[in-house]
Amino acid sequence: MRGGAIRYTVATESPGIKRAAGGRGGSKAERAGPGMKFFVDTADVDEIRELVDTGLLDGVTTNPSLVAKTGRDFFEVLKEICALVPGPVSAEVAATDTDSMLTEGRKLAEIASNITVKVPLTWDGLKACRALTQGGIRVNVTLCFSAAQALLAAKAGAHYVSPFVGRLDDIGHDGMQVVAEIREIYDNYGGDFGTEILVASIRHPMHVIAAARIGADVATVPPKVLRQLVSHTLTDKGLAAFLADWEKTGQTIADK
Ligand code: G3P
Repeated sequence: MRGGAIRYTVATESPGIKRAAGGRGGSKAERAGPGMKFFVDTADVDEIRELVDTGLLDGVTTNPSLVAKTGRDFFEVLKEICALVPGPVSAEVAATDTDSMLTEGRKLAEIASNITVKVPLTWDGLKACRALTQGGIRVNVTLCFSAAQALLAAKAGAHYVSPFVGRLDDIGHDGMQVVAEIREIYDNYGGDFGTEILVASIRHPMHVIAAARIGADVATVPPKVLRQLVSHTLTDKGLAAFLADWEKTGQTIADK
């Protein structure tokens, strides 16, 4: 268990998430990772450029809807993003059968060395995941809505599995409960599953906090929510008061 981190596990008697006594038991992801990673969920190159400047961005996820929003050429957009971001950049296949997913996935992987190929959580997607992974291509299995699906993604050798918490919440389910179940299952097998939990479909800062408390490996966050994470009205108020008092002293720090 990482020092002092709060851990949650799934209590069968409770519909919610409960604090666990134990930790992650030294999973592969835990041994490899420097804490929770932050990806941004967008294909907007200008937004990404701004966020890269913060030094807080570990990667990017895109999907066909996000690319469509830009109105730009898919490959051009991805090339630009991969050049901007040193971390993994997820690019999704549009095919639905395994063979076509393999063709598309290999083409996408040629764009840059930091491409992660995204495939949907279907039987064909899982087969493509296994083959791409065996060929040395990183795969993000997306559109995951249950722990059972996440178990299959791990068995298929996925580097990431993406549970969509917001879309589950939208239909009256508990998205974070699914994330907690996946964490529990993966941790039961120590480092045997190398799959990282990439929490997707994040709608607000509380999703990010809940994902971190559960011990998810990655949160992919829309730019707007990333900006919300830093804001607090008491920070603004406190800063204004400090600056007003400082001005009264007539002193400067830079000139010392
Ligand atoms: O990129 C996948 C996921 O994050 C999409 O989220 O908001 O369309 O449910 P959303």
